[in-house]
Amino acid sequence: MSQTHPGRQLRPGIDEVGAQDWNRRLFDQLIPLPDGTSYNAYLVRGSEKTALLDTVDPAQTAVLLEHLDELGVEHIDYVISHHAEQDHSGSLPAVVRRYGAKIVTNEKCQGMLLDLLDLQPEDFRVVGEGEKLALGDKTLQFLLLPWVHWPETMGTWLAEDRILFSCDFFGAHLASSALFADQTDGVYEPAKRYYAEIMMPFRPQIRKNLEKIKDLPLEMIAPSHGPVHRDPAYVVNAYRDWAGDAVKSEVVLAYVSMHGSTERMVEHLTRALMARGIVVRLFDLSAMDLGKLAVALVDAATVVLGAPTVLTGPHPLAASAAFLVAALRPKTRFLGLIGSYGWAGRVVEELSGVLGRLKAELIEPVLAQGRPRTQTFAALDKLAEEIMRRHREIGIAV
Ligand code: FEO
Repeated sequence: MSQTHPGRQLRPGIDEVGAQDWNRRLFDQLIPLPDGTSYNAYLVRGSEKTALLDTVDPAQTAVLLEHLDELGVEHIDYVISHHAEQDHSGSLPAVVRRYGAKIVTNEKCQGMLLDLLDLQPEDFRVVGEGEKLALGDKTLQFLLLPWVHWPETMGTWLAEDRILFSCDFFGAHLASSALFADQTDGVYEPAKRYYAEIMMPFRPQIRKNLEKIKDLPLEMIAPSHGPVHRDPAYVVNAYRDWAGDAVKSEVVLAYVSMHGSTERMVEHLTRALMARGIVVRLFDLSAMDLGKLAVALVDAATVVLGAPTVLTGPHPLAASAAFLVAALRPKTRFLGLIGSYGWAGRVVEELSGVLGRLKAELIEPVLAQGRPRTQTFAALDKLAEEIMRRHREIGIAV
């Protein structure tokens, strides 16, 4: 057998050869990466052919090629492209040029790759759902897994080794020296964060994809970000939980306050909810980790936005949070709006317009002109009571 990459061998003939991006702090110029990320690429060497499963972000191409050099790789027959997003496809042109590899992917992904990268139609071999590619003693089988995370995404099932190469599905933004999840401090939080940021908008499709893989006798799941799962049931069950319809008696309370009035309302509502046994997850939108907000949205039954009025509309940070919540499409059942205004405003119209994209019921907003007073606090108590009543109605609060 040829050389292996020390510490990066999943099974004989299967090595992880991608890159750990320890210092990357932002993805899509939007998503914070507190633990960096990795772009996993897997070299599968069969008795007759060699395949590389995915590549790496273009900025890390040299690392990928160095790893392949360390393994003494001189020729690659196929490079499997599971997903056209450049963090996995960006080095395809370099791999095609250097190793003469044919890109194997589905038709939709081929179209996107031709749009995104300097590639030609003749660089490709197009495969369909369930199609197999023999490497000798190892066989790759392709499974279309749409919307995890783009419409063209697919995975590869390696039956002889019982490994599912799942691309973004089951991934985690986590740079680590450990190959396997059980060798890290824990992958639950990073995987949930990744789910919340990347996968949550596609819950119905995720459930379909979970159904599709449910009968595979999985021994490993090898995603394209973060460590490899040697206990596949752990992450699959977590995904079932996150993508399912069940919510918890929790309120995500995200707010911004300019002169303290909205903050006083938030503090009062927090105490009122706590007094009713409801978990509150509080986020000051002027100084928060967007990823933590996304994670909190995974389970919460209710989201309340605290938004003061700037000029005639919502504070831009609250408007931005409303757009984010609407885009992530959490399974939120109830919405609330609170805030202080100076003379007039369209906070409720504008924010409820954005949040209306969610299938959630808006509970009567609570607005205060200027500082909150007795009647404001009474209205906030009533809001807490209404939230508890609705949580009870759906069977999640006592
Ligand atoms: Fe990791 Fe959707 O790319």
